[in-house]
Amino acid sequence: MNQYAVFGNPIKHSLSPTIHNLFSKEMKIYQEYIAIYTPIQSLEDYLSVFFKNLGKGANITLPFKHRAYVYSDILTSQARLSGSVNTLKKMDNNLILGHNTDGLGLLYDLKRLKFINHASNILLIGAGGAAYAVIPELLSFGCSIFVFNRTLINAEKMVLKFKNLGNICCIDWLDNNIQVFDLIINATSSSMYNMKPNIPVTCISAQTFCYDMYYLIDNMTYFLLWCKKHGATRISDGLGMLVSQAAYAFKLWHNKFPEINQIIYKLKNE
Ligand code: ATR
Repeated sequence: MNQYAVFGNPIKHSLSPTIHNLFSKEMKIYQEYIAIYTPIQSLEDYLSVFFKNLGKGANITLPFKHRAYVYSDILTSQARLSGSVNTLKKMDNNLILGHNTDGLGLLYDLKRLKFINHASNILLIGAGGAAYAVIPELLSFGCSIFVFNRTLINAEKMVLKFKNLGNICCIDWLDNNIQVFDLIINATSSSMYNMKPNIPVTCISAQTFCYDMYYLIDNMTYFLLWCKKHGATRISDGLGMLVSQAAYAFKLWHNKFPEINQIIYKLKNE
């Protein structure tokens, strides 16, 4: 049987095997999908062994997305623009294709939630790997992006990289009049540490959509709790993005896009 796997470190809490096993059941495509704990120095060796044997496709999670980009023989435009790879596919000619489905997954989820339109003004918080991965898709959808990051220089570097793709600039609360945004996306890793980025409360109104790319199965993230406390009524964590980016990986491997609503519901309610 063809094998699929997620490689990461840590990997114990990954939902990818559950999600892909649900896809495979729903789509009646039988595949083995497992989580592989990967020692930091061993990603390339592990991938080579995997693809030499029964491995046909892989998901790559933290902290390996840039190394997977370097490992790939060919890159999709999403991978090239973001500089990172979260999905690999062994092609018929044995070359390894690197793709990034994070931006596609985020945009799909924001549309599903009706949190976004082509003219949305977005406050994107963060300038790490997660932000790099989603900006190209949001810009090509037509949105304007205002980037805020704890360390301004990191935001400036990122904006410089993407400014030829669309409407994107940095925001520094000291220099700018505070405005209300249509959508605020937390792309920092702060939720992992039960923290939140430091943004002014005046950014939020009852009309502002607030999205945290991170998710906690049992609790609301600290960022979303804070948004709610300050008047946001339309908020979401990143579980739908996680399922959607997985659906795009499944599509790359099997050429079929699974129905994701039931799976999100199942994961939220089990
Ligand atoms: P990556 O490896 O993807 O870059 P990271 O180093 O954890 O991940 O940081 C991702 C983003 O989260 C960065 O924008 C980081 O801000 P800095 O550029 O200032 O380091 C941001 N970040 C992490 N923890 C944060 C916190 N507690 N508050 C605000 N921003 C935070």
